[in-house]
Amino acid sequence: MKIPNLIMRLFKLIPLFIISFNYSFASQANEELIAKCDSCHGKNGVSQASDIPTIAGIPEWNLSDQMLQYLDGRPAKTVSYVSGNTSETGNMKSIVEGLTEEQVEQLAAYYSEFEFVKASQPFDENMAKQGEDIHEKQCDSCHSKGGSDPEDEASILAGQHKEYILSSLREYKEAKRPGDKKMLREIQKLNEDQLVSLAEYYASVQ
Ligand code: HEC
Ligand code: HEC
Repeated sequence: MKIPNLIMRLFKLIPLFIISFNYSFASQANEELIAKCDSCHGKNGVSQASDIPTIAGIPEWNLSDQMLQYLDGRPAKTVSYVSGNTSETGNMKSIVEGLTEEQVEQLAAYYSEFEFVKASQPFDENMAKQGEDIHEKQCDSCHSKGGSDPEDEASILAGQHKEYILSSLREYKEAKRPGDKKMLREIQKLNEDQLVSLAEYYASVQ
C-alpha cells in the first residue's frame, strides 16, 4: 500500500519540477539570453515587428525544430534589433550557431509556455476570402482551424505577422526553406497573388 502511494506522490511532483526548472532557467544565467531573444521577438516572444514571428505559445518541439533548421539551410535574414541595442543587427543562423543544443531545447520550452497573441493588423477582405478558399482545399488538412490550433504539428499561422507569413511562403515556393514535402508541393502550385491572398487570410482569422 505505502509504496504505490509514494510513487503516486512522486509523479505529482513531476510538473512542479518542470515549472521550477523553467523558473530557474529564466531567473539565472540565461536572463541575458532571453533578453536578447525578446529584443527582436518582443516581450515574452510576442512580436511587434511585422517581419519577425511571434514565438510565444508555439509548440515546444516546433520551436526547437525550426531553430535547428537554421543549421540545416533555412535562410535567415539580417535584421535590426527592435529594442535594446538598436545599432546592432543579427540573424537567426548565427544566433543558433552560438547556442548549445541544450539551450535550444530550454528556450523552446520557455517560449512555448507563454500564450500566443494574435497580431492586430489590417487585411484586405476580398483577398482574405480568396485565401480562405485556397486554405480549405490545400492547407487545412494539416493547418486545422484556419491555422489557429496550438496543438497542431504545423505551427500557428492565424494571427502571425502577415509580412513574415508571406516571406515564408515565398521561401517555400522557391524551395529555399526546408519544409514538409507534401506542403512544398501544394505551395509550389500557387502563384504570387495566391500567396498574398493566403497571407491576408491568416491575418483575418479571429
Ligand atoms: C536580430 C533579431 C533576432 C534575434 C536576436 C532573435 N531572433 Fe529569432 N528570428 C528572427 C527573424 C527575423 C526570424 C524569421 C525570419 C528569418 O528567419 O529570416 C526569426 C525566427 C525565429 C524562429 C522560427 C519561428 C518559426 O515559426 O519558424 C524561432 C523559433 C526563433 N526565431 C527563436 C529565437 C530565439 C529563441 C532567440 C534567442 C536565442 C531568437 N530567436 C533571437 C530574428 C531574431
Ligand atoms: C501535409 C501537411 C501540410 C500541408 C498540406 C501544408 N502544410 Fe504548412 N506546414 C506543415 C508543417 C509540418 C509545418 C512546420 C514546419 C515544417 O516542418 O515544415 C508547416 C509550416 C508552415 C508555415 C511556416 C510557419 C512558421 O511559423 O514559419 C507556413 C507559412 C505554412 N506551413 C503554410 C502552408 C500553406 C499556405 C499551405 C497550403 C497551401 C500549407 N502550409 C499546407 C505541414 C503542412
